[in-house]
Amino acid sequence: MPVSREEFVAIMSAFPTGVAIVTTLDADGTPRGLTTNAVTSVSADPPILLVCVDRDSRTLPALVARKRFVVNFMRDDHEAVCRVFASKADDKFADVAWTAGRDGVPVLHEGAIAHAECETLDELVIGDHVVVTGLVVGGDAPAESDVPIVYVNKAYAPAPTPPTA
Ligand SMILES: Cc1cc2nc3c(=O)[nH]c(=O)nc-3n(C[C@H](O)[C@H](O)[C@H](O)COP(=O)(O)O)c2cc1C
Repeated sequence: MPVSREEFVAIMSAFPTGVAIVTTLDADGTPRGLTTNAVTSVSADPPILLVCVDRDSRTLPALVARKRFVVNFMRDDHEAVCRVFASKADDKFADVAWTAGRDGVPVLHEGAIAHAECETLDELVIGDHVVVTGLVVGGDAPAESDVPIVYVNKAYAPAPTPPTA
């Protein structure tokens, strides 16, 4: 017998993660996106990452249809943007700065310290989520001084910074 959903969520709360906003475009070119922490590097050569998206996500149909997405890795002081993209707001992009990247997919500037532009390789339905793997075809790395935001125990916090020599 598997553990309950609540027990599973409680167990996983022991695992701090970064926070990323996954963006894409729907059929009529409207930007869509959601806050995620189920993002993992899969392969370095070729460069592949994965993101797990709830089957109830309103962004998922656009993600599946477009086959292009951007993973925007979020900055320590941008909890508010993460909260907007974790909501069901109709226009999540109203108050964030973004530009159209490769294939027109939104790249967030405000609040993102790095991003990865992806072409979908595979989609795998597992339980109540869809695992989407993406080949990374572009992006930007963070600057040395950039601090990512982390999520642990249902709270956002700045990632620890390396000690200075
Ligand atoms: C820190 C954090 C991490 C999240 N990670 C994920 C995730 O990895 N996958 C997912 O499908 N939803 C995740 N969610 C929930 C979605 O952001 C939330 O359900 C959102 O409303 C989905 O928006 P949409 O329905 O417009 O796509 C996360 C929420 C938070 C606060």
